[in-house]
Amino acid sequence: MKRIICVLTAIFMLLAAVGCGGGEKKAETKKAEPVATKQAEAAPAPAAGGKKVLVAYFSWGGTTRNVAKLIQEKTGGDIFEIKTETPYPKDIQQTGELGKKEKADNVRPKLAGPMPDLKQYDVILLGYPIWWYIEPMAVKTFVEAQDLSGKTILPFATSGGSDIGSSVADLQKTLPKAQVKDGLLANSTGGIDGWLKDNGVMK
Ligand SMILES: Cc1cc2nc3c(=O)[nH]c(=O)nc-3n(C[C@H](O)[C@H](O)[C@H](O)COP(=O)(O)O)c2cc1C
Repeated sequence: MKRIICVLTAIFMLLAAVGCGGGEKKAETKKAEPVATKQAEAAPAPAAGGKKVLVAYFSWGGTTRNVAKLIQEKTGGDIFEIKTETPYPKDIQQTGELGKKEKADNVRPKLAGPMPDLKQYDVILLGYPIWWYIEPMAVKTFVEAQDLSGKTILPFATSGGSDIGSSVADLQKTLPKAQVKDGLLANSTGGIDGWLKDNGVMK
């Protein structure tokens, strides 16, 4: 596990050395009419703790996707992948540059496909890789697209070593009317069960 963290940290250090030039500014997203997720065509069945749970995640390389799937199994909730209309490059350095520029310019990349109707859910487990110390801008597009007042948001992230704290603070600032709880840095799976139990969403 230490070796994996070292490799991810090395990749991040490489990204940190990348300059800001060359990134493409994305268009502002329109607030698309929400529709039910494929996995929740009817009203979602209550999952853990009688709550209606959605696991919504963004992942570039697949690490966060794996954690999201594990969390879905453990909660019994629905799952939705946040994807950008224009996919990020396969090349990590290009994605690093683009992600850095999007953060600097505070853009909201347009998302692909129909959005789930978030009104249906009590709890949204929100997963993402840490990009330049916070959540990727596509995650902001997602959370700003609908009214999340009163919803419980449980952030989880994977990273090359950075903590989740700055992204949680940023989400709390972005969503003052939602209850954005302490997040879980899920670089190892060890803490997942305890965190889900503490938040009353373990099956
Ligand atoms: C654009 C970009 C920016 C990143 N910024 C950070 C960072 O600030 N801190 C960090 O620890 N890791 C950073 N990483 C590494 C990712 O957070 C880490 O590899 C994560 O587990 C990838 O998740 P994914 O496979 O779901 O995309 C960055 C990676 C990319 C592509």
